[in-house]
Amino acid sequence: MDGSLTRRDVLRRASLAAGVAAAGAMASAQTPDPPAAGSEPMVVSPYTLPPLPYAYDALEPYLGARTLELHHDTHHAGYVRGANEAVSNLVEARRTGSTSMAGEYAAKLAFHASGHVLHTLYWENMAPDGGGAPQGRVGGMIRRQFGSYDAFVKQFKAIGTSVEGSGWGVLAYEPRGGLLVIAPVKNHENVVVMGMEPLLVVDVWEHAYYLDYQSDRGKYFDVWMEHLVSWPAVDQRLAAVVR
Ligand SMILES: [Fe+2]
Repeated sequence: MDGSLTRRDVLRRASLAAGVAAAGAMASAQTPDPPAAGSEPMVVSPYTLPPLPYAYDALEPYLGARTLELHHDTHHAGYVRGANEAVSNLVEARRTGSTSMAGEYAAKLAFHASGHVLHTLYWENMAPDGGGAPQGRVGGMIRRQFGSYDAFVKQFKAIGTSVEGSGWGVLAYEPRGGLLVIAPVKNHENVVVMGMEPLLVVDVWEHAYYLDYQSDRGKYFDVWMEHLVSWPAVDQRLAAVVR
């Protein structure tokens, strides 16, 4: 190495800087000022699409630029738009006193807002120089609870790829039991342990991998764990929820 930056170095630095910025932006978005007692909150569009924390082609050859462009700019953007529409519809229903669609609006908010949250975590969970076994704190927790990293990956893949239709493989921390749990999340909001804190999320909707892996969800999952997962991001997330 002659000391000059390689393309991978540049991408890694850009990824880390953008990841920190995105995490900060998300944290501020999650903690808005509460409305004054008795007042209708002036919420118009509480959710915003965070920028992709790297270039569209940063994860090639494992995920193509077109996949990331469509996934972020179309699919993730759609969940942000849907969540804001659901909030707006609920506010308007309260203003007019209508209750006929309230349940449907609430269900749409759960779907779209959960989609927005999971995609935000997903981008941060990948890095151009990712992959391999974790060395930090979460790595220790995984080895203690699952016996070995290989045993964890085997079960994580089995659960994550078992989701019928569209969904996510989610490794989360469950604070009441004080343990790691793996959830086979359907769509974005079903099959979870209430109160769990997602640490690592793998999108197994077909839009996440079909252009690159066609129907081979298992191959996508293997490549994702071997080359894309960002364990430092997972450790940062764990540190935020477990002191
Ligand atoms: Fe997705």
